[in-house]
Amino acid sequence: MIAQLLDGRIVANAVYHDLKNEIDQLREDGCEPFLTVVIVGDDPASKTYVRNKHRACEKNGIRSETIELPAETTEADLLGLISELNGNDDVHGILVQLPLPGHIREDRIIEAIVPEKDVDGFHPVNRGKLAAGADCFEPCTPAGIRHIFKHYHIEPKGKHLVVIGRSQIVGIPFALMMMQKKEWANATVTVCHTATADVSQHTKMADIVVLAAGHPHTLTGDMIKPGCVVIDVGTNRVEDAQAEKGYRWVGDADFDSVKEIAGMITPVPGGVGPMTIAMLLKNTVRAAKLLHQK
Ligand code: GUN
Repeated sequence: MIAQLLDGRIVANAVYHDLKNEIDQLREDGCEPFLTVVIVGDDPASKTYVRNKHRACEKNGIRSETIELPAETTEADLLGLISELNGNDDVHGILVQLPLPGHIREDRIIEAIVPEKDVDGFHPVNRGKLAAGADCFEPCTPAGIRHIFKHYHIEPKGKHLVVIGRSQIVGIPFALMMMQKKEWANATVTVCHTATADVSQHTKMADIVVLAAGHPHTLTGDMIKPGCVVIDVGTNRVEDAQAEKGYRWVGDADFDSVKEIAGMITPVPGGVGPMTIAMLLKNTVRAAKLLHQK
């Protein structure tokens, strides 16, 4: 079997198509959705992500600005900027790109963003609401995966879904979302992590495997059930002398062996990545709507 590719670019374009009417309507009502992205330092991967977010906003009628700060920026200065953005009625979404330099406490910064503008869904209020199954800003990558399920009619209900990785950004919120009694969720969830004795014991029983470990070759074809769905969140930069830039991006799956056994798989790039950005734009439009109604 050769797995069907789940194309995140196609799903993202469908999201943008649906968002267009909402954005046009907001503009007619005198509200221009506006996302502010803050990046501290010059981590090349972060810069690429931020550029992609900005481009997606521009292309889809959302105003966006990127504030680039030097690596030496103090926590106090960054908190000052967040406070300014919180109070600026033109700004609907605030995103601080992670990771931040070591001398800045990320939790302090995230907690300073008003939850109503937290389009990343990282604020403890939004995290708590997500865990409780309440309406909130859902973190973009988990929301994007759920959207892929919906688009391709991959039904998690009653399925055994294994998440590999327990990060606050992907593994934990996605596991929480998937165990809820809601549409495109309602799965039996297992979370594997660095202390799991035998990951393959779990993945061999999985109908859906979600990879968010951050290491290439975390999942190989011999670890999965034939026909299962593999969602690969990994974005790992590996050296490749043949590639134009000297590197290429790979996921957490050993793609060549997994594609022979799985029924469906998201490619890297072009799978989950475009969906993360699409959900960010969706959250920004939602923030603009809620703040404009106030
Ligand atoms: N760094 C890696 N992924 C993300 C994300 O989704 N949001 C932010 N703010 N930083 C990140």
